[in-house]
Amino acid sequence: MRLRASLVAAALALAGCEQASSGFDDARADPRDAARVALGERVYLQHCASCHGARLEGQPDWRRRLANGRLPAPPHDESGHTWHHPDAMNFAMTKHGLVPPHAPPNYESDMPAFADKLSDDEIWSVLAFIKSRWTSREVREARAQMSASAAAR
Ligand code: HEC
Repeated sequence: MRLRASLVAAALALAGCEQASSGFDDARADPRDAARVALGERVYLQHCASCHGARLEGQPDWRRRLANGRLPAPPHDESGHTWHHPDAMNFAMTKHGLVPPHAPPNYESDMPAFADKLSDDEIWSVLAFIKSRWTSREVREARAQMSASAAAR
């Protein structure tokens, strides 16, 4: 059985909030930190853009499965679902790939694990860069709300 990673991820994000002590936004992925965002942009262009797009737009038709049954790379801009997730979850998926607890066991995905290629600091920086592109009022308010409800649990 194949489950859409995004659905699983969303469900786990909700479940995961219960243990999240640091809340939704992590200070290490601060999009207002210009130095971090600049480093993150370099890391993004070198390691992420080939799949997630130079403008964070994802692969064409990213909701439709490829012939091999895997999903294309989703956008990291506001049209995707990366912004629905707490920073810690995006960090874990970047570092370890789509493995439990953020995907079902043996889930097949083209998303690489970056644990051997990037330092933790580089991963937080790339997330700071991605977050610096979430500028609309809708997305900012939605994240603030998700953050508040995570903290209230
Ligand atoms: C070889 C292609 C490839 C590269 C390079 C790549 N990704 Fe991905 N990524 C994917 C694919 C494909 C998915 C969707 C996998 C799925 O749902 O099965 C994905 C999913 C993700 C997700 C979870 C989906 C979401 O929107 O929440 C995150 C976070 C992510 N990638 C971050 C990164 C970051 C950060 C980098 C660079 C450091 C990166 N990826 C590099 C292919 C790639």
